[in-house]
Amino acid sequence: MNVYVLFAHPSRASFTGQALAAFAQGLEEAGHQVQIGDLYQMGFDPVMDPSQYERESGKDLSSPLPQEVAQEQAKLEWADGLAFVFPLWWSDCPAILKGWFEKVYSYGFAHRHEVNLSLGLKKAQVIATAGHPLSHLESTGVLGALKTVLVQSRLAGLGVQDVRLEVLDGMIAPQSNGPKHLIRAHQLGLEY
Ligand SMILES: Cc1cc2nc3c(=O)[nH]c(=O)nc-3n(C[C@H](O)[C@H](O)[C@H](O)COP(=O)(O)O)c2cc1C
Repeated sequence: MNVYVLFAHPSRASFTGQALAAFAQGLEEAGHQVQIGDLYQMGFDPVMDPSQYERESGKDLSSPLPQEVAQEQAKLEWADGLAFVFPLWWSDCPAILKGWFEKVYSYGFAHRHEVNLSLGLKKAQVIATAGHPLSHLESTGVLGALKTVLVQSRLAGLGVQDVRLEVLDGMIAPQSNGPKHLIRAHQLGLEY
């Protein structure tokens, strides 16, 4: 499969960056074609400008899409599957990735106002790294919120048939949890 992997972290040397490397290696070993979209490295601007707002709100549909949005949409058209690798920041994905959804899921591409369109993708794997243990994320409702907002609303709700979420948790204690999580990230790539 052609897999487009979105990476939202300022540093490839971080644990999240290591998880990306392990996951991408697994994907390649399994024979997938992999494209990595490193949002920080590409300088993706997550802020919707007034002209795109006019378009997304249906006030001026003739307003052209920003070039970086068109480029990201071309990558989605190339892809059969998607993946996301990011750290949990304040119980959500980093702002740069939130802005990617806001801008790239544009009118006519991902929705026509209240009606979602299909992205035509078979699969998505979400990998979120987190400081807290999974038990804490479950009991506070954060895990449920991720499932509702990211898995359901931003992926399954746009026709992605098979969406999986993996939390590499407990990274407050990186020495004990890091190695097993990197093995898991590699396995997720192999099994994609
Ligand atoms: C700005 C910021 C906000 C964070 N918010 C959360 C959070 O809400 N929940 C959580 O479990 N961990 C949170 N963390 C911890 C990171 O998710 C954790 O350190 C990460 O999984 C591993 O990050 P690393 O790749 O930067 O080492 C936060 C970290 C930062 C820097």
